[in-house]
Amino acid sequence: MSLPINLFEYESLAKKHLSQMALDYYNSGAGDELTLQDNRAAFDRYRLRPRMLIDVSQRDLTTTILGQSLSMPILIAPMAFQCLAHREGEVATAKAAQEIGAAMVLSTLSTKSIEEVANERKNIPQWFQLYIHKDRSLTRNLVERAEKSGFSALCLTVDAPLLGRRERDRHNQFTLPSGMELANLTAIKDLAIPETVGESGLFTYFAQQIDPSITWGDLEWLRSQTQLPILLKGILRGDNAKKAVEYGVQGIIVSNHGGRQLDGAIASLDALPEIVKTVGDRIEILIDGGIRRGTDVLKALALGAKAVLVGRPILWGLAVSGEAGVRHVLELLRDELDLAMALSGCPSLRDIDARLIT
Ligand code: FNR
Ligand code: LAC
Repeated sequence: MSLPINLFEYESLAKKHLSQMALDYYNSGAGDELTLQDNRAAFDRYRLRPRMLIDVSQRDLTTTILGQSLSMPILIAPMAFQCLAHREGEVATAKAAQEIGAAMVLSTLSTKSIEEVANERKNIPQWFQLYIHKDRSLTRNLVERAEKSGFSALCLTVDAPLLGRRERDRHNQFTLPSGMELANLTAIKDLAIPETVGESGLFTYFAQQIDPSITWGDLEWLRSQTQLPILLKGILRGDNAKKAVEYGVQGIIVSNHGGRQLDGAIASLDALPEIVKTVGDRIEILIDGGIRRGTDVLKALALGAKAVLVGRPILWGLAVSGEAGVRHVLELLRDELDLAMALSGCPSLRDIDARLIT
């Protein structure tokens, strides 16, 4: 069969390569999946206003975020349990990211360790996503290891004090197959995704292990633990973005966790304009949720995001053909963005502004 030519074709193909439990875990959203659907629909509600007769013979996709140079404004979102897609899991994703020049964010709940993933780094930044566990020494240890291994930013996920209600996972009593483990947490006795009758084991893990009492004040604790820049992942309101600036974090990721947490939450693209209006360029603003096309990236940038993160399509590529699949997914998205920039009269990312969109 010929190679997929877009991310949706990867989605169809991935279904043949994943167990039902893994596919459901990867693709599902919370509740009635209203937010999951709306993340996509929000992109389709905008239209582009291309500019003509501009020399687009050379295009420049490079950007700088937190002072770190990136070859394109597309990053890999943190996603747990990538060994469910491919035996090399996060290591394959990390290799593909380095090759294509995309920064990758590694999940706390990865199935390859911080050190194994760091080992694949050449010169493209890697960031670490943090879940604050009730056990603060465990959390501190994760931060220390990430910093020591050369990860260059921390993304603190703030939209998951408890896990969202994902009904397909509940039906499946989601858990990890034997032999697969939380690779960053192996030193802690008995810390595993449990098997829970009538419930997703991941839901149970969150309820038991993740600290739901975290507030803005805890950011000071985190700040005291690390020199790394901190981004808050999961901000959807202007007033929260303003608070993020006041608390001295360096960036935010406008996100509803891919529709996996609060069902009915606003689409991340729809949340973006208010946030951009409130905090402007006082902080780095990134976005994720529903990015599947180069024109989606263009729209997010036109509305004021500095860069986007892609989630599920990376897992689809990984499931289909490991490192090569992830690389191809990223190439497709990069090439689509490059073409969209050419056709809209934007030779560089600086040329993408609010007047490009309606
Ligand atoms: C996620 N996401 C996520 N976020 C996070 O902060 N830590 C995590 O461990 C995970 N794990 C995870 C697993 C899977 C299977 C998915 C699909 C997502 C959320 C992720 O970072 C991102 O916000 C969304 O996936 C973006 O939406 P799209 O691109 O998947 O639509
Ligand atoms: C998820 C968690 C792990 O979305 O962030 O499945």
